[in-house]
Amino acid sequence: MIMSNKTSITQFLLLGLPISPEYQNLFYALFLAMYLTTVLGNILILILILLESHLHMPMYFFLSNLSFSDICFSSVTMPKLLQNMLSKDPSIPYASCLTQMYFLMFFGDLESFLLVVMAYDRYVAICFPLHYTSIMSPRLCLCQVVLSWVLTTLHAMLHTLLMARLSFCEDNVIPQFFCDISALLKLACSDVYINELMILFEGGLNIVIPFLLIIVSYVKIVCSIQKISSTRVIHKIFSTCGSHISVVSLFYGTIIGLYLCPSTNNSTAKETAMAMMYTVVTPMLNPFIYSLRNRDMKEALLRVLYKKIFL
Ligand SMILES: *[C@@H]1O[C@H](CO)[C@@H](O)[C@H](O)[C@H]1NC(C)=O
Repeated sequence: MIMSNKTSITQFLLLGLPISPEYQNLFYALFLAMYLTTVLGNILILILILLESHLHMPMYFFLSNLSFSDICFSSVTMPKLLQNMLSKDPSIPYASCLTQMYFLMFFGDLESFLLVVMAYDRYVAICFPLHYTSIMSPRLCLCQVVLSWVLTTLHAMLHTLLMARLSFCEDNVIPQFFCDISALLKLACSDVYINELMILFEGGLNIVIPFLLIIVSYVKIVCSIQKISSTRVIHKIFSTCGSHISVVSLFYGTIIGLYLCPSTNNSTAKETAMAMMYTVVTPMLNPFIYSLRNRDMKEALLRVLYKKIFL
């Protein structure tokens, strides 16, 4: 009895996506295109910001941090998904699974802190334009980025260590396309009370506080522009804030739906679709929403292309 309970498993099976075989190739092509778009779009942003000296401003430094984090975030799940779809071998070793979970939480959380920092940056720029350079000093920017890294390391460490002390018995099938913390908890055969408590408390704080901070920043921005009389400026601010808020809501909405209010009647297909939204779709949309809609970025892109072609 005790012996049979002790047989700990060495690998998990990632069931992947509930796609019928005839559509496998179509979806493979689709996901490959999405992954390449994410990586190339974000690399383009990194290069532009590096090359163009007049983009050397806090907003663009944060943007390049976000792009870096987007590339890593989607690289944690997508290559494994693509490989599984091709090879039809769904197994993933225990250690790789925990590593994937760690980096997924790390970059997911880093993303959310960077979105807060970027919202704060916009708030200062729009509400205190005259004091912007003195408030957002290089030192403060660096502190914000370093603090984000430290907090996300602690967050990912905490949940990975808590997961590592669980034992798993015979059931090793994960009904997801990556090693998802809540799917792993369902498979564990030891007590997961502390893990669930921590997800609710620490995870909740880590998700809800950044989300509220972002919303507060944008609300303050919207309130402050009531004083501006130029409709063109108002329109511009609304269009940027609107797209930021929509990406932010998509990102947090799906995470909150999945981890903070997991309902028992959530079907696997629905959970997979929601996970797809925040692991694949938001990293792909971020470069378009945050930079390619931005005039300075477009001009920088044209200038770099022009230099490359004509000089
Ligand atoms: C991230 O932001 C910091 C602080 O503004 C900046 O110094 C650094 O170059 C950025 N890192 C990347 C990869 O862009």
